[in-house]
Amino acid sequence: MAGFDVVILGGGSGGYACALRAAQLGMTVALIEKDKLGGACLHRGCIPTKALLHTAELADQARESPSFGIRTTFDGIDVAGVNVYKGSVVAKLYKGLSGLVRSRGITYVEGEGRLVDPTTVAVGETRYTGRHVVLATGSTPKSLPGLELDGTRVISSDHALELDRVPASAVILGGGVIGVEFASVWRSFGAEVTIVEALPHLVPAEDEASSTLLERAFRKRGIAFQVGARFSTMEHTENGVRVLLETGEPLEAELLLLAVGRGPVSAGLGYEEAGVAMDRSFVPVDDYCQTNVPTISAVGDLIPTPQLAHVGFGEGILVAERLAGMDVAPIDYAGVPRVAYCEPEVASVGLTEAAAAQRYDANGIETLTYDLAGNGKSQILKTTGAVKLVRRKDGPVVGVHLVGSRVGELLAEAQLIYNWEALPAEVAQLIHAHPTQSEALGEAHLALAGKPLHAHG
Ligand code: NAI
Repeated sequence: MAGFDVVILGGGSGGYACALRAAQLGMTVALIEKDKLGGACLHRGCIPTKALLHTAELADQARESPSFGIRTTFDGIDVAGVNVYKGSVVAKLYKGLSGLVRSRGITYVEGEGRLVDPTTVAVGETRYTGRHVVLATGSTPKSLPGLELDGTRVISSDHALELDRVPASAVILGGGVIGVEFASVWRSFGAEVTIVEALPHLVPAEDEASSTLLERAFRKRGIAFQVGARFSTMEHTENGVRVLLETGEPLEAELLLLAVGRGPVSAGLGYEEAGVAMDRSFVPVDDYCQTNVPTISAVGDLIPTPQLAHVGFGEGILVAERLAGMDVAPIDYAGVPRVAYCEPEVASVGLTEAAAAQRYDANGIETLTYDLAGNGKSQILKTTGAVKLVRRKDGPVVGVHLVGSRVGELLAEAQLIYNWEALPAEVAQLIHAHPTQSEALGEAHLALAGKPLHAHG
């Protein structure tokens, strides 16, 4: 079928956002998806895991309610019921998204596409030609040499979402975002969990202070972890797995979850043959998501930018607008909010202290930490954690780092502060509602502006 303005390969966050925006701008769009519209985020990632994390929070609350003066008994987890709830959230969003794509007049093609030349994607015998092609084929869980994912004893996050039971125990390889989120869920569900992380901290990409607070909270929750620990081999046992670390230490559990990153889906799709330059299995792009082939753009987890659904949305929109001839600005990836939705949550935007010190010199920055102990709403919720700000000396805030229950929601303000390059004194001028957790952000800026209220100093 000839004559589309844009042919998009992959209907996940990046691909469908590009399709929706391109259609809105009057372009004719073909969107090709082999599985389900919505991709990993909707079906195997963000949405189902956050539904699980919500059930985990309810389980914790049921257990802890006597400490709030509420008499409840916690009888356990009905995994089938949890999965029905999780499935119903996904199904509703899937239906809504499908309707949205239909209503924008997008030609939706179910089938496996393959790039056959710089302007054409083939699905079986049918060829879809566009003035532009957008590659948005996403990512899939990575494995490690010598480890075979069998879906029962050695599993990925895809399998973990489909489990019909709570494992009695689990070893989680990788203490990044997926690792800490599943550790959090399974611990709340009653499992014995051990995380093995090769780098010196859990969530090692975050500010070290956030990692330390999370580690403290996980220790209190009875989540075991080994950092600076590398996986060596694994063997099957009668009841599960025995994982050996490079130190020779064995860890036994019912199952092993691999959470060592996600790799792009790019093999066998005709990219290289069509002339698209590759970097390992990623598709490199310029600041405007254009590949080395002028008619081909790429977005989402396929390109070497943060593998986050909202980054995919942003890149998809950017490409649609560029193709429509609009004036677009490159994305400042440091300004993209990041949240690990474990309990407690770890959220951030901007630079870590270490990255800011590298960019502006250690003497050119200043930091301030406001402990949630001083925040009324956090005390009501019985959560601990902190707000940490990084600023340029006599300049704007360049990093906001948060740890605590529900702090992900505070990023809405934090990202405006970072992206609008606010000065601490300007934020300090704004009155925050009392008692809210957002007040902690206000208090931190008051303190950084030299006029702390509910803080010493
Ligand atoms: P990740 O890159 O965040 O973490 C993987 C971790 O595994 C790293 O800390 C790494 O040091 C460690 N690791 C690698 N090899 C190891 C080994 N042999 N032994 C021990 N540790 C090892 O990747 P993750 O957590 O798998 O997530 C994949 C992607 O999905 C990430 O880019 C993440 O941002 C995204 N995601 C985002 C979520 C969110 O925004 N809430 C939730 C889940 C995933």
